[in-house]
Amino acid sequence: MSQLERQSLSAATTQWLIAKGYNPGDLNQPGENGDTALMKATREGVYAVVKELIDAGADVNARNSDLNNALWFACFGNHYDLINLLLAVNIVENNSLTLIYELIDDGLESYIIPGKSINGFIFLISCVYYRSSWKYQNRSMRYCLLDSGHHLGAVSASAFLHNKDIQLIFDFDKLALNSDLGFENKEFITACAVSGEVQDKKIRCLRLKVPFVCGTDYFEPNQFIEDAYQATAVEKSRQQKLEYPQFDLDKDKFYQTIWNRRSIRRFRKEPISQEDYLYIVQQLQQPIPTENYEQIEIYSVVHRVEGMTPGLYKGTYLVKTGNFNEKTGYLCINQAMSTTGCAYAKDSAVTLFFVSDYLNYQTAMQIAGFLGQRLYLASNYLGIQCSGIGAYYDDETKELLETNKDVLYGMVIGI
Ligand SMILES: Cc1cc2nc3c(=O)[nH]c(=O)nc-3n(C[C@H](O)[C@H](O)[C@H](O)COP(=O)(O)O)c2cc1C
Repeated sequence: MSQLERQSLSAATTQWLIAKGYNPGDLNQPGENGDTALMKATREGVYAVVKELIDAGADVNARNSDLNNALWFACFGNHYDLINLLLAVNIVENNSLTLIYELIDDGLESYIIPGKSINGFIFLISCVYYRSSWKYQNRSMRYCLLDSGHHLGAVSASAFLHNKDIQLIFDFDKLALNSDLGFENKEFITACAVSGEVQDKKIRCLRLKVPFVCGTDYFEPNQFIEDAYQATAVEKSRQQKLEYPQFDLDKDKFYQTIWNRRSIRRFRKEPISQEDYLYIVQQLQQPIPTENYEQIEIYSVVHRVEGMTPGLYKGTYLVKTGNFNEKTGYLCINQAMSTTGCAYAKDSAVTLFFVSDYLNYQTAMQIAGFLGQRLYLASNYLGIQCSGIGAYYDDETKELLETNKDVLYGMVIGI
């Protein structure tokens, strides 16, 4: 550390370093467990110190005895501002990318788009089902697929920020891929998202099986999930013409929306404006960029939207008038009972249900999850809160909606 750099530290930061047992003259000196001052300040969320240490040339890539770096501490501590700060200084050595298999003349294309090659990205979404089935057992099939859809939604949101088009693919040889990726029965591919230029070129399958690392320390098979996955992995989905959505969003604001997106469990029972509600519905109606499609119908139980009659709507069409907030609270199993006895579906502004008469359940559920992620982001973008609801009484919800089709997902939005 040069004299010049040392001088650039403020008195407050110098004091902080001394108080924590660090030497202001050697910014990269490891302390307890190998933690450098930068790691310590990041862990404690002291933005001013982190910033000064970075500016003074502290090593952002240093790792402690557990091989964690400052970025790890920022993520661990939920310090979003520090995550952004550290990423901005380009932590190239630890971006969580680990090369586990080098592609030479082989690739994933032949499993997904046979006869073609892609000059771009292929994102595979997979599911380690025991992470959900240990708790939800058979019902976790629903969560696994909805979660996959949410991941696809997150990839699409990121693609939008980076000015890339992304296409979702559901109908492909998932079983061959599971086998070649060595997943055994512990993990399975659910979907894929591709971005880039597609060319006519045959790419060979993977030369070797990829070494498999189980995503859970412990595993108990669930036959229902495995059978349900296998059966729905091979059925063909409905097909449609590929069309990309066109979003007119402020990129900086949307970037912040992605970073800050959270689920909410309690609403203040305040109304949302009709303009905001219609904007959110419009976002949901934008095309879903896939050829393998299942139509999702969106029912909204409107409780608190200014200028709108409370009742059940299909899209913007009023199916029946009524105050169904107690009913929807019950249908969503009166979740999040607080000490004041409120259930969040009943306190929301709108409870939405995604319904479908799909050919392929696996595809339909993922499209529902994809729309769920879109709903989260569209509402959070407007400052409106949102939560997914995977637990509801299926048959009774169908009765309220007056439909024979399956209810795939529930969601609540509000303030
Ligand atoms: C598919 C899905 C189903 C969910 N179902 C419920 C639910 O039934 N009840 C609930 O309280 N939260 C539910 N959530 C919200 C999750 O608990 C929440 O997303 C999770 O705790 C992570 O928090 P975050 O969304 O703030 O990142 C669901 C979320 C997803 C994605």
